[in-house]
Amino acid sequence: MKILLVQAIPRKTGYTAKMLSHFKEGLAKTDSVVKEIDLLNCHIKPCMGCYRCWSTTPGRCVIRDDMDQLLEQFLESDIIFLATPMYHYNMNCEMLKFFERTLPFSEYGFNNSPLGLMRNSIRYPERWKNKKLGLLTCGAFKEEENFSAIIRTFNLIANGMNLGTCGILIRPESYLLRFKPAKPKTITIIEKAFERAGYELGTKGYIEKETMEKAKTPIVSTSEIYINYAKIYWEYVEEAYKEGIHDENIIAERVTKDPVILMKELNSYIDPEATAKVKAIIYFHFTDRDLKFIIKIDRGKSELIRDQEPEKFDLKVETDSKTWGDVFLRDIHPRDALMQKKIVLKGDKYLFTNLDKYFPPPSD
Ligand SMILES: Cc1cc2nc3c(=O)[nH]c(=O)nc-3n(C[C@H](O)[C@H](O)[C@H](O)COP(=O)(O)O)c2cc1C
Repeated sequence: MKILLVQAIPRKTGYTAKMLSHFKEGLAKTDSVVKEIDLLNCHIKPCMGCYRCWSTTPGRCVIRDDMDQLLEQFLESDIIFLATPMYHYNMNCEMLKFFERTLPFSEYGFNNSPLGLMRNSIRYPERWKNKKLGLLTCGAFKEEENFSAIIRTFNLIANGMNLGTCGILIRPESYLLRFKPAKPKTITIIEKAFERAGYELGTKGYIEKETMEKAKTPIVSTSEIYINYAKIYWEYVEEAYKEGIHDENIIAERVTKDPVILMKELNSYIDPEATAKVKAIIYFHFTDRDLKFIIKIDRGKSELIRDQEPEKFDLKVETDSKTWGDVFLRDIHPRDALMQKKIVLKGDKYLFTNLDKYFPPPSD
């Protein structure tokens, strides 16, 4: 199978590029012949709408640029797989410009498509058989409905160009993909789904419905939580930019170690069985940012309270945000942090030793 991977990704460190790299990992494990095109590196002028490719020079555009070569590669491929960030609810302008310039593939004449819509005739039906179009796209917003226009555009283009479709991978909540340490299980499922999609495309020529579903697995359950994460992210971006840091990975590292996120995650990991007989109040104080949290464990349940000091506690954990992030993400062993006095405990130390048992992190 010959696959043409057409990408129009301006931000090389962004999420479309990231998910495409997982997809390509899967594709690389197959025997398919893959040719990659980066439209950002191509010189392509917009279509002028002169229709000379239908009249005076049938099948040939009057503009001479990289599109000459790309049209030939399009014709030679069985699958054309697109990767674009979602901009203003649609493919970005580079991708749309690419499709404008495929007009020489059509010719005067009409027929009815399977969608019951009028379309133009295809100029090279013998080179078109079973040709398919696929799409990978990432968008920032949470709701799937935000992708309705890009999906519709994609399907109409495929229908209008008499192309079959081989799968659509949409990834909402793109900015939360950086929160992997806080959401290891879900984000691993998503990354694996993109890898699997690449593998399926390369072996079967299409992506399974189940894989497409997994690729869009929600990372957080409500818009409120999404907004919370986004707020933390943008606060860090602002701070980092003031410090002259523009590296997304450094920002993401800081975000994932934010105690607000980590405490929420910890609280959500409660093991009802391990805590069935436990009743305890644990007070966390992050001295560097004066952040206070209470975790109330009450026989199988736990509650997280922010910005309050308890009247009484069974255990007080005093530390700084960085140390807690390192402990949570296993960059430092809690025992070492205690020995180095990066964590100071007051009260029932046994509770601290049992935190992993009471709040077991999800396994990948
Ligand atoms: C010009 C522009 C328009 C955008 N429009 C949308 C949009 O309509 N819906 C959405 O969910 N995200 C939108 N976004 C956010 C991107 O989809 C988001 O950053 C996503 O991660 C893809 O970009 P990336 O590959 O650079 O990360 C827009 C971003 C830019 C820069």
